Amino acid sequence: MTDTSADAAPGRAAARLHLDVFLTPADLRAGLEADARAGLTATPKWLPPKYFYDERGSRLFEEITRLPEYYPTRTEHAILVASSDEIAAAADAEALLELGSGSSEKTRMLLDAMTRSGGLSAYVPVDVSASALEDAMAGLRRDYPALDLHGAVADFDHHLDRLPAPGRRLVALLGGTLGNYPPERRRVFLGKLAAAMQPGESFLLGIDLVKDPDRLVAAYDDMAGVTAEFNRNVIAVLNRELDGDLLPDDFEHVALWDAEHEWIEMRLRARRPVHATLAALDLTVDLDAGEEIRTEISAKFRRERIEPELTAAGLRPERWWTDPAGDFALALARR
Ligand code: SAH
Ligand code: TRP
Repeated sequence: MTDTSADAAPGRAAARLHLDVFLTPADLRAGLEADARAGLTATPKWLPPKYFYDERGSRLFEEITRLPEYYPTRTEHAILVASSDEIAAAADAEALLELGSGSSEKTRMLLDAMTRSGGLSAYVPVDVSASALEDAMAGLRRDYPALDLHGAVADFDHHLDRLPAPGRRLVALLGGTLGNYPPERRRVFLGKLAAAMQPGESFLLGIDLVKDPDRLVAAYDDMAGVTAEFNRNVIAVLNRELDGDLLPDDFEHVALWDAEHEWIEMRLRARRPVHATLAALDLTVDLDAGEEIRTEISAKFRRERIEPELTAAGLRPERWWTDPAGDFALALARR
C-alpha cells in the first residue's frame, strides 16, 4: 500500500492512505530465529509472545475477544462507549496513534469521539501483524473516508522513536497488552515510550485489574479451547518459519494464576517426551514429558501499582476510568 488519493469531497483535500513498513517479514523471521534459539535452549524454556500473531493467530485472537469467558475486550469496549468523549476532551489531540492495534475495532469509539470534538486529523495504527493491519485499514478506509490513515508495520520493542507524528498525539495501548511484558521489560518499554513522545502528548493505557482468580483463569483457558489453539499456534509458526517438525498435539495448553506476581502465566506442556528439530536453526528441541515452555504472561494491575510506574517513566497520571464492577481500567497520562 502506498499513498493514494480517495475521491475528494468538493472543497476538501483528499484523505491520505499510507503504510510504512519498519519491520519486514525477513526482520520478523530473524527475530524469531534469535528468540527461538535463546528461548528453546534455556531452562526453563520460553518463547516471546509477538510470534503468536501470524494471520491465523490474529484470527484466533479475534475469536478469543468474543468468548463468553474473555471479559476484557467487552469490558474495555463498554468503558469506551461510556467515556470516549471525556477521553477525547482530556487528551486534546490531533492524531491517534495506537500500538498493537489489531483489528482496530474498539478504537472506532475513540475515532468517533475525537472526530466529534473536532480535532482529529489522522489515525496511526501500529502492529507487528501486517495482515491484521491491512484488514483493519481496509475497513477503516471504507468507514472513515475523510480520515488520514497512516499505518505502520512495526515492532514496538524497536521502533517507537520512528513512528509517525502527524500532529499532537494521543498514544493508545489497549487490550491489556502492557500486561504481556514482564515487569523489567515493562519499565524499559514505558521509558522508551515517554522518550518518544513530545511534552503535552498523552497516553491512554487499557489494563486488566486484579480480581477473582477463577474468572482470570477461565479467561485464559476457555471451554471451547480457542485460547489453547491460540497458544499452540506458536508451534505452527515455528514449524513453518524455521522448518520444524514439532507436533502441536504433543503440547497441552496451561494457564495458571501466579498470586505472588499477580499475573496469568501461559505455558505449553509436553504431553509426552518430545524430540524435534528446527532445521533452519540446526537445533534439536528435546522436552521431557510434563516439561513446559513459557509462552506468555498477562499481568493484572491495581491503580496504586501502575500509577507510580507511569510516573517513574515520565508519564503523569491524570485520569482513570473503570467499568462499574472494576474489572478493567483505562488510565490517561500526560508526557
Ligand atoms: N488492541 C487490540 C489487539 C490486542 S492483541 C485489542 O485490544 O483487542 C495484541 C496486538 O499487539 C496484536 O495485534 C499483536 O499483533 C500486536 N503486537 C504484539 N506484540 C507486538 C510488538 N512487539 N509490536 C507491535 N505489535 C505487537
Ligand atoms: N493482551 C491479551 C491479554 O493479555 C492477549 C491474550 C489474550 C493472550 N489471551 C491470550 C495471549 C492467550 C496469549 C494467550 O489478555
